Amino acid sequence: MFYRLEDGHGLPHDPFKAIVAPRPIGWISSVAHDGSVNLAPYSFFNAVSGKPPIVMFSSELRKDTLANVEETREFACNFVGEPLLKEMSASSASLPRGDSEFDFAHIEQAACHEIKAPRVKAAYACLECKVIKIMNLKDINDEPTNAWTVFGQVVGVHIAEEVMTDGRFDLEKAKPAARLGYKDYAVVRDIFELKRPGQA
Ligand SMILES: Cc1cc2nc3c(=O)[nH]c(=O)nc-3n(C[C@H](O)[C@H](O)[C@H](O)COP(=O)(O)O)c2cc1C
Repeated sequence: MFYRLEDGHGLPHDPFKAIVAPRPIGWISSVAHDGSVNLAPYSFFNAVSGKPPIVMFSSELRKDTLANVEETREFACNFVGEPLLKEMSASSASLPRGDSEFDFAHIEQAACHEIKAPRVKAAYACLECKVIKIMNLKDINDEPTNAWTVFGQVVGVHIAEEVMTDGRFDLEKAKPAARLGYKDYAVVRDIFELKRPGQA
């Protein structure tokens, strides 16, 4: 099938997010000026640069995470393995601004080193980030969209000792969760090497 966006897909549900899958989940913790903390999952999330390491996430509509990072210009991005899936989902509840999803979803927090936002203590990894840029994306007609995209440069990295094997970050141990389309998720289990042309 093919559809032009203007004509609509004619399906029971929009397939877009199922096509762009799997998406890593950035579980974003942040703090407001008044010190209140926030935690929420974002699957419009990815790494966009390696050197320096830069990540992005995108808020559809203005949400508490966006308001916090506008105020304090920093956030932590926690990674969700299979054991934390339920807590991650619970933390997506829409709470009044200032109420902590850490408390609501009974998630233990720990201090970050370089930023004031807390991190998820049980996450297998966490990137401490400082905001580079916040953009309200414009569409092809130069009209503002509902997407607010935040770019952050990584300034500190936490890795849980139990997911390290012989100096390598061991994804078989971390078991990263990813967002698919509809209500679906995946857990990474099938890992293999593929050499690029010219690689030994
Ligand atoms: C797995 C998952 C991924 C999500 N990804 C996004 C996303 O990329 N952008 C977004 O705006 N909301 C996303 N949401 C919804 C937000 O997590 C939800 O609106 C949350 O209440 C926002 O919290 P905040 O207002 O504290 O920032 C996602 C929810 C889940 C469960």
